[in-house]
Amino acid sequence: MTERVRIVEVGPRDGLQNEKQSIATAIKLELIDRLAAAGLRNIEATSFVSPKWVPQMADHAEVMRGLQRRPGVSYPVLTPNLQGFEAAMAAGATEVAVFAAASEGFSQKNINCSVDESINRFVPVLEAAKRLGVKVRGYVSCVIACPYDGPTAPQKVLHVAGRLHEMGCYEVSLGDTIGVGTPESVLRMLEATATRVPVGQLAGHYHQTYGMAVANVYASYQFGLRVFDSSIAGLGGCPYAKGATGNVATEDIVYLLHGLGAETGVDLDALVDCGAWISAQLNRTNGSQAGRALLAKRSAG
Ligand code: HMG
Ligand code: MG
Repeated sequence: MTERVRIVEVGPRDGLQNEKQSIATAIKLELIDRLAAAGLRNIEATSFVSPKWVPQMADHAEVMRGLQRRPGVSYPVLTPNLQGFEAAMAAGATEVAVFAAASEGFSQKNINCSVDESINRFVPVLEAAKRLGVKVRGYVSCVIACPYDGPTAPQKVLHVAGRLHEMGCYEVSLGDTIGVGTPESVLRMLEATATRVPVGQLAGHYHQTYGMAVANVYASYQFGLRVFDSSIAGLGGCPYAKGATGNVATEDIVYLLHGLGAETGVDLDALVDCGAWISAQLNRTNGSQAGRALLAKRSAG
């Protein structure tokens, strides 16, 4: 039986949020549409956070209003509180994500409140979403370690992930925000978390800072996860985690997953073109190794 893996493309949000240069809304919209054309069905489009905190996402409403919505594609957005949720709804969002941390230090720096306060803020978001029939995804950041508090105990991850799950998040995405995890530490964290949230409702969200993200996706796949977050051309970094680099590159995990015989619905060639295009637009080195290799092979061939 062929295994199906759902990829949540976070490039337009996690990938771009840390870019210092101003990026035209039209480029963001073209990126989203190219990703959809390559077969991605879950594309995190933007975030309804404070523009004072993350200036790059200030055009969130324009992005949502400008989307060329394709059938079967969902365009979730981040919402840190009810204010963000209401703005997202007004702009036409149909799926949102709330985000908490497994560590207090990151929670304070990222969203200016404690972990418990953040979860309390999500209660009215989940209630409003339920009334409107809007799906809510949950994130837990710093599942392996925190840039402020050091290593994270797996018990903390299972506690926060469990609360998000019980509140009604349909899926909980586990973020190795600073990319320090190894297959060993990721598996310890997954084993603990899976005691409270079914494996089928967990996603892996691994950053590439130490070069371990593809290995961590592989270990998580073996553990039973079938949903992974990634960013085209490995774009990104978190504004509140200094030195953290982008997410695992979408091209790299599609290459891995196809190599394992899994189905992603993604056309790798079209994805590689998209990665080359956005890297050129941002004047950045393409952060996908599979992408660079396939481009080199094409130009040699
Ligand atoms: P705060 O300053 O504590 O908010 O920020 P406040 O409630 O005290 O309000 C202060 C001002 O912010 C007010 O405006 C509010 O209207 C405004 P003023 O009266 O001063 O003009 N405000 C908002 N404006 C727009 N949208 C909103 C909103 N809420 C309040 N939703 C807040 C708290 C959460 C808003 C802020 O800390 C924030 O926006 N943080 C976002 C940080 C962020 O986006 N980080 C990156 C995403 S998380 C991530 O990357 C990790 C992830 O990828 C997983 C992983 O890798 O681990 C998901
Ligand atoms: Mg992230």
